[in-house]
Amino acid sequence: MTDNKKRIAVVTGANRGIGFEVCKELAQNDIDVILTSRDENMGKAAAQQLKEEGSVRYHQLDVTDTASIGRLKKFIEEECVRCDILVNNAGIFPDADDASEPSFPSIFDTKIETMRKAMETNVYGAMLLCQALVLVMKKSNYGRVVNLSSGMGQLTYVNGCYPAYRVSKTSINALTRIMSEELKEFNILVNSMCPGWVKTDMGGRGATRELPEGADTAIWLATLPDDGPRGKFFRDRKEFEW
Ligand SMILES: NC(=O)c1ccc[n+]([C@@H]2O[C@H](COP(=O)([O-])OP(=O)(O)OC[C@H]3O[C@@H](n4cnc5c(N)ncnc54)[C@H](OP(=O)(O)O)[C@@H]3O)[C@@H](O)[C@H]2O)c1
Repeated sequence: MTDNKKRIAVVTGANRGIGFEVCKELAQNDIDVILTSRDENMGKAAAQQLKEEGSVRYHQLDVTDTASIGRLKKFIEEECVRCDILVNNAGIFPDADDASEPSFPSIFDTKIETMRKAMETNVYGAMLLCQALVLVMKKSNYGRVVNLSSGMGQLTYVNGCYPAYRVSKTSINALTRIMSEELKEFNILVNSMCPGWVKTDMGGRGATRELPEGADTAIWLATLPDDGPRGKFFRDRKEFEW
């Protein structure tokens, strides 16, 4: 950072789960957090819960709705002037909901609509947010973009089943590489990460990790120094194979 102003972070899908924890810890790190969610009541309640942790403001955002992204961009440009950190956290796991056999969502049964839903939220949403906010980051030549990916999108070891989720997470990793390459002249570091298997609504009760462990690598990537890594995939702060 070249000045003493507080950094401003936008976190998507932050009314619950890992996004909520990321907001909490960024606020504790003296970062001005814009907590976003598609449901206004849930998001406002989440921001209210974090009011003792630091500066947390609420703004509505549905990552599949271009008008909603436009309103957030306008708010950032007019009210915040800058955007230093973007955590693309919002995500869905639609395979099991729509599969003919929920315990074995095979690619051979997967409806095209399920693939589209996963891509709309998990990939195109993140891309549109970057298109909107990286422009703002470029003006101050400072930015940290954290893309929430998953080991399930790790191409080297990819298994069968859950094709919509897996393809979407492999795709967000591709976006990380493409954006990082295009931003190499800027102090804007774009990275992907896997939080591990975390106890959230998505992770379920059998998950092995508590929220702070799941959020740890996101906080680290969101606050990287200028000479930090770019265009990489991480888990537990260590480089992870694509
Ligand atoms: N939990 C794990 O074990 C795990 C493992 C690997 C990767 N991840 C990734 O980590 C991220 C967070 O996961 P989580 O476990 O915290 O999931 P979660 O508890 O299910 O929370 C998902 C969040 O995304 C939001 N969301 C969904 N669609 C949205 C949209 N169109 N616009 C804005 N927000 C939207 C949800 O909002 P609503 O409340 O409105 O639905 C919710 O706030 C996801 O990208 C996920 O793929 C999680």
